[in-house]
Amino acid sequence: MEYIARHPPRCSKSPVLQPSSTPCCQLTNIVFLFKIAICMMTNHYPNIILFGFMGTGKSAVARRLGDRLGCPVVEMDDLIEEREGMLISRIFAEKGEEYFRRCERELVLELSREGGKVIATGGGVVLNPDNIRDFKKTGIVLCLTAHPEVILSRVENETHRPLLEVEDRLAKIEELLAARRIFYDRIEHRIDTSDLTVEDVVGQIIDMMEQR
Ligand code: S3P
Repeated sequence: MEYIARHPPRCSKSPVLQPSSTPCCQLTNIVFLFKIAICMMTNHYPNIILFGFMGTGKSAVARRLGDRLGCPVVEMDDLIEEREGMLISRIFAEKGEEYFRRCERELVLELSREGGKVIATGGGVVLNPDNIRDFKKTGIVLCLTAHPEVILSRVENETHRPLLEVEDRLAKIEELLAARRIFYDRIEHRIDTSDLTVEDVVGQIIDMMEQR
């Protein structure tokens, strides 16, 4: 089972989606997934947009959710890098963060024009409230969260995030989280991924959509 966190779960009772145990439940689940897949493939279904700080599991969850629903997954950071022809760390270094935020804004406007996709945002997309507003027009927005130490454990061997290229990463993570809390808290549906597997989070999202 793929854990988002690299360390073992800290509590044994994680708020996971109960697996469908009876044949009836399984059938309901299959029918629901089938309906959702058809809707997404025909673009009639809303986007599912994952917000959240770096290292909260947005990309891994988006990929798995896209697989389960059979719909395209858009990774905003990858698309920006592809279009700009350079890595995000270079965009920050050569063009500045403000330029990067404008790239994000333009992409949000483009992606929110139609539904049918699972979208993993970059951790700072939440900073512009217009981005949340526009994504909500054609989608369901969700925020993944995690404890600072868990975030650190997930990003410690990575070097592609310019904002975390500092000596004391934990302090930086805590500082950014504190500064951004009000932005992430604007998103109603939040899932703490600290002790969950990718599969758990995907299950919770599907469960939440089923109840809409
Ligand atoms: C950023 C998060 C990164 C990336 C960029 C800035 C942020 O995305 O967009 O380095 O401001 O939080 P991930 O959240 O996918 O790491």
